Amino acid sequence: MPGSSSPPFSAESYFATQPPPPGLEQDIAGVKEFVKRQTEEGRKIVLVTSGGTTVPLELNVVRFLDNFSAGTRGATSAEYFLKAGYAVIFMHRQFSLQPFSRHYSHSTNPFLDFLEIDRGPTSQEICVTPSKREDLLQVLALYKAVQAAGTLHTLTFVTVNDYLWLLRAVSQELSTMKRKAMYYLAAAVSDFFLPRQKMSEHKIQSGKGSLHIEMDQVPKILKPMVEDWTGKDGYIVSFKLETDQSLLIPKAQAALRRYGHQVVIGNDLNRRKFEVVFISWKSPKATISEVDSNLNPESRENSFEESWLRIDITDSNQEIEENIIAELVKRHTVWVGEPESAAAP
Ligand code: PMT
Repeated sequence: MPGSSSPPFSAESYFATQPPPPGLEQDIAGVKEFVKRQTEEGRKIVLVTSGGTTVPLELNVVRFLDNFSAGTRGATSAEYFLKAGYAVIFMHRQFSLQPFSRHYSHSTNPFLDFLEIDRGPTSQEICVTPSKREDLLQVLALYKAVQAAGTLHTLTFVTVNDYLWLLRAVSQELSTMKRKAMYYLAAAVSDFFLPRQKMSEHKIQSGKGSLHIEMDQVPKILKPMVEDWTGKDGYIVSFKLETDQSLLIPKAQAALRRYGHQVVIGNDLNRRKFEVVFISWKSPKATISEVDSNLNPESRENSFEESWLRIDITDSNQEIEENIIAELVKRHTVWVGEPESAAAP
């Protein structure tokens, strides 16, 4: 097993040594059924990953490391994909934001504040605060329509191990959709983890001074995802989060070069709600192998396209995800080989 003196985990050695989460088989049966139905009904499917993964430090877990993400990007994007006619597999961190209910988050917009008690002479009724009714009605109508159409399927993860096993299994199921599947990887995934074999069974005791833990690197799974799990056909969009704006473009380009997928969306931690950058290959249908076979390494640097999306920061009615999804739907339409008019919602 990898450790300080052994090589890092590959995706293969990771899955050979780390146990699958309980419930994986049942989750996958649900996904299989969802994919079958959506295929029969002729929809494209997008897998949206959302929220941060944890790394437990003990088997009987009391302490864990967490990755930053409220799930806003993923939950908001899922709504716009649904609006654009996609079926959505929403794979999210347990208790992070979800499509539709995100508008009534317990911390920013508690739903009890939307309700009033109407006291009659003999009974009491619950009613919605009149000033909130219109907004609530809109969200509720969309939510009920999606439920009736059966176009949203939800899966949850907590740990990075849950995430990796689920991601692989869902990607393999979705690969049957070929180019009609999109993968929108907005989750914030841990870079380091503690292999099960190195974890303490019980709560780590304090009282022995400082704590030293050596973690292993989480294998980079985008490569096997692009080349094996999705059968090289899926339209894969990953995100790059940086806090130093100057690293955004070089890091996003490096990710595209390394993994050979279709788009990296770069976002700066403090500007992510009103500005993102799309980095992609200049030729929309090119894969890395097509580009590699045509170009030498220097000219390959010129094969990236950079396009910025910005919204007005002062307009609270705008959500940048609306523009992100509109752009991706257009690009995916080209990828699938449909006429561009098919991208209109
Ligand atoms: O939820 P919010 O609060 O709205 O925040 C949204 C966000 C800032 C978290 C989101 O927009 C974002 O940038 N997500 C990716 C952050 C990240 O962790 O990037 P990364 O460099 O670790 O990973 C790059 C990409 O590869 C990601 O798409 C990730 O899902 C994927 N990845 C990375 C490592 C790994 N082992 N497996 C992966 O799937």
